[in-house]
Amino acid sequence: MRLVLATHNRDKIQEINVLLQELPIQILTFEDFDSLPEVIEDRDTLEGNAEKKAREIYEETGLPAMADDTGLFVHALHGEPGVYSSRYAGENVTYADNRHLLLKNMEDVPLKDRDAEFRTIIVLMLNEDEKFIVEGSCSGYIGFKEKGTMGFGYDPIFYLKESGKSFAELSLAEKNEISHRGRALKKIKKILEEITKNT
Ligand code: IMP
Repeated sequence: MRLVLATHNRDKIQEINVLLQELPIQILTFEDFDSLPEVIEDRDTLEGNAEKKAREIYEETGLPAMADDTGLFVHALHGEPGVYSSRYAGENVTYADNRHLLLKNMEDVPLKDRDAEFRTIIVLMLNEDEKFIVEGSCSGYIGFKEKGTMGFGYDPIFYLKESGKSFAELSLAEKNEISHRGRALKKIKKILEEITKNT
């Protein structure tokens, strides 16, 4: 079975590849095609965006497609940056720009009110009639400064309550074990195991 990952994000591709590597599936990305359209993420829910990305890439390639949409929901900011996590500091910004703005907006918030949650929705579109939607989440808090050098995006400022470590202090395997994306991917893995068993 071949499966196209509907994302340009190399960091996500790496996390997904590691978790699905044992399956008898050939994972393809945008780089395996001459040209695939850029999917505009213009929906106001994670599910809407993930569905749109998976559907457009399925329709373009004719192959099963999978897309993830993720947001960081900060309680003290009424759920911001949420669905708009990639564009929090504006269009065409870096991960660092987004982190700096978030830290600035949280400057005066005490530790007890800094709770946050990563949420991921993954849509797996096998064909026109078969679509699976799973979710995964991970709770933590926004630290006062960046810590760690691994991971990507908001990882250096997202801390786990149990260990006090940021996501950026975890190896890829450790992050996948407990992260929003890791949890959603384990559900997808089960679905794909069933599908590939019967083919
Ligand atoms: P997307 O819209 O799903 O591509 O993700 C939105 C933004 O959330 C990305 O640009 C990243 O900044 C951030 N993000 C997504 N997943 C993670 C993660 O696992 N750790 C940290 N930041 C993430």
